[in-house]
Amino acid sequence: MISKKIEKAINEQIKKEEYSSRLYLAMASWCHANGYPGAASFLYTHADEERMHQLKFVHFLNDRGGHAVLQNIEEPPAEYKTLQAIFKEILKHEQYITASINELYHLCVTEKDYTVANFLQWFITEQVEEESLVNGILD
Ligand code: FEO
Repeated sequence: MISKKIEKAINEQIKKEEYSSRLYLAMASWCHANGYPGAASFLYTHADEERMHQLKFVHFLNDRGGHAVLQNIEEPPAEYKTLQAIFKEILKHEQYITASINELYHLCVTEKDYTVANFLQWFITEQVEEESLVNGILD
């Protein structure tokens, strides 16, 4: 059984992963409409990956006896200045997500919920890969 505090924190993370998916979909759409088909294809795929992250949390929370609840999320920006600005924004966003996963991990260790902490290991590794990927693209 999962504590209410951790359930709430996981639901917040579900919201952030959903926003990530919508943000990258909005960026993909801008790239598609503005003559960057390669970047659009990359970002459409990346939006799907974020949805997969969201689903991983939804399934896990429900499997552990909690309840995954979807929340209102803000609209992502529709307009971007340049392709480079988009990838800078992605890096900033991924760093924010990494910090959020780390906070969640810290909460689980503090609450001695090592089952959730163990589940989060996958996301910790994933964040290293995602930041590295975006850094590589920016380089
Ligand atoms: Fe779900 Fe890009 O982190």
